[in-house]
Amino acid sequence: MPNDVIIDCDPGHDDAIALLLALQSPELDVRGVTTVAGNQTLPKTTRNALQTLTLADRTDVPVASGMSEPMVRDLTIADHVHGESGLDGPELPDPEYEPIDEDAVDFIARTARECDGLTLIPVGPLTNIGLLLKRYPGIESDIDRIVLMGGGVYEGNITPAAEFNIFVDPEAASLVFDADVPVTMVGLEATRAARVPAAEFERFRSLDSDVGDVVADWLEFFLEFHREQFGWDGVPIHDACAVAEVADGVVETEPMHVTVETSSDHADGQTICDVRGVTDVPPNADVGVDIDRDRFVDRLVDALENY
Ligand code: RIB
Ligand code: CA
Repeated sequence: MPNDVIIDCDPGHDDAIALLLALQSPELDVRGVTTVAGNQTLPKTTRNALQTLTLADRTDVPVASGMSEPMVRDLTIADHVHGESGLDGPELPDPEYEPIDEDAVDFIARTARECDGLTLIPVGPLTNIGLLLKRYPGIESDIDRIVLMGGGVYEGNITPAAEFNIFVDPEAASLVFDADVPVTMVGLEATRAARVPAAEFERFRSLDSDVGDVVADWLEFFLEFHREQFGWDGVPIHDACAVAEVADGVVETEPMHVTVETSSDHADGQTICDVRGVTDVPPNADVGVDIDRDRFVDRLVDALENY
């Protein structure tokens, strides 16, 4: 029986690839896609989601637009990574449909109540999910699991201490880690271990399909930032790792207590992970510490082969 899932995203190159993977994962029933401001502004991330679903020929999947600003902070975008559109690189088809009228938070709540157990896969800032928990007290009982891409045990990316998704809205992230729902944190230690080297982009190009070519072009674009910033000759497809975790359990996790820093001069957004259990606070998340990289990449290529 497939898992009912909603993917909450801020496309973004890796978000878009995560959507394409999810839509070709038989273990998942994608009940909808919700969008949030993050990599780019909300109008841009929403358009990018619609374009990706149009490319996938899946305009049957509802898209609900969410929050345009973090809960209490000003928005930080990542145009230095994803470009002016948020999905720079190849030409994409214009969206063939519009978002639904219902906002993302209400859509998630309604869907959670309709499903017999919903898994949320947030791969952008957690603003929509934080507001869901505030706007719908008790909604936790209708959510099976939250598998989020975000955070890091030892490293950040947008700052030395913080990963981007958590950094943009740490207040929302704190609500998520404090919620009474099983949380899996697919953070930078897992996603960076699954980096796809530039030499392997050919596996996507050789699919000889529009989708394969677009993904290869997205990876080429995404590579430039990672070469300049980190000196890597490969890219972490962060968000697709969270989808692959729900579909195929590719991430190795350890239970830890995670606290999100929200009042620091230098470390706001840090996911402070009690790796050694030195506090008496019980774990509140299964935290990604490694990933089966080959299984992840093979699954991604196999999935994209179906377009
Ligand atoms: O830090 C990586 C995360 O931030 C990914 O989800 C990427 O899409 C951006 O949202
Ligand atoms: Ca993202």
